[in-house]
Amino acid sequence: MEHLTLFAPSMLGADPLNAGAAVDSLGEGFDWLHLDVMDGHFVPNLSFGPAMAAALRKRYPGAFIDAHLMVNNPDSYLSVFAEAGVSHISTHAEAEPQLLHSRLSRTRRAGLKAGVAIAPPTPVEQLRHVLSLADVVLVMSVTPGFGGQTFIEETLEKTRDLARLRVVEGYGYLIQVDGGINKENAARAAAAGCDVLVIGSAVFGSLDPARYLAETRALVLQGSCRKC
Ligand code: DX5
Ligand code: ZN
Repeated sequence: MEHLTLFAPSMLGADPLNAGAAVDSLGEGFDWLHLDVMDGHFVPNLSFGPAMAAALRKRYPGAFIDAHLMVNNPDSYLSVFAEAGVSHISTHAEAEPQLLHSRLSRTRRAGLKAGVAIAPPTPVEQLRHVLSLADVVLVMSVTPGFGGQTFIEETLEKTRDLARLRVVEGYGYLIQVDGGINKENAARAAAAGCDVLVIGSAVFGSLDPARYLAETRALVLQGSCRKC
């Protein structure tokens, strides 16, 4: 069966004064819209809140809106993002880890897909107790907090481990990689087991975002054909 890689352009890479036009510039070429939520505490930056999520939902009723919460106390924000209409919420395993299991259950009970994210220093072992519950495991491939950083190649060891574990244990999660993805490394990430590629500055910083995405998708497809 053909394995399709999903692309999730990150709104953090878009011009904030022209966010709608930035999404429109992707044409039909995206699968998810990735929305980074930062609180200035869990990470040293501030970004989008529920109003942006609601605005995206209003303008793109059919879009899969992927909220990536880089905040302390993520539990206190689940309902507000659910009400804003997101499709999926990922929260970090490093934020209130003792609540991670119940947080994923609560997210699913709200009718959303539930993801767990890990920063580069966090090992996969820290997630073992929630892997059967997670719809998505997001492996950060840069330090959380900023777009435009360089991809940390070593994080692909974790995506390979997660892909192996999924087969061995029969888990159903998608593996998502976030940070520093571009045309040069996307096929390598997909070959290392990543199902969903977040792509921010590379796509929105290009002259023609729809074309950049299409070319990256083609490279990923060629890469997967070389494997078969
Ligand atoms: C970083 C964010 C990423 C960011 C990716 O903390 O989680 O989603 O937008 O941007 P690029 O693709 O520029 O690394
Ligand atoms: Zn993100």
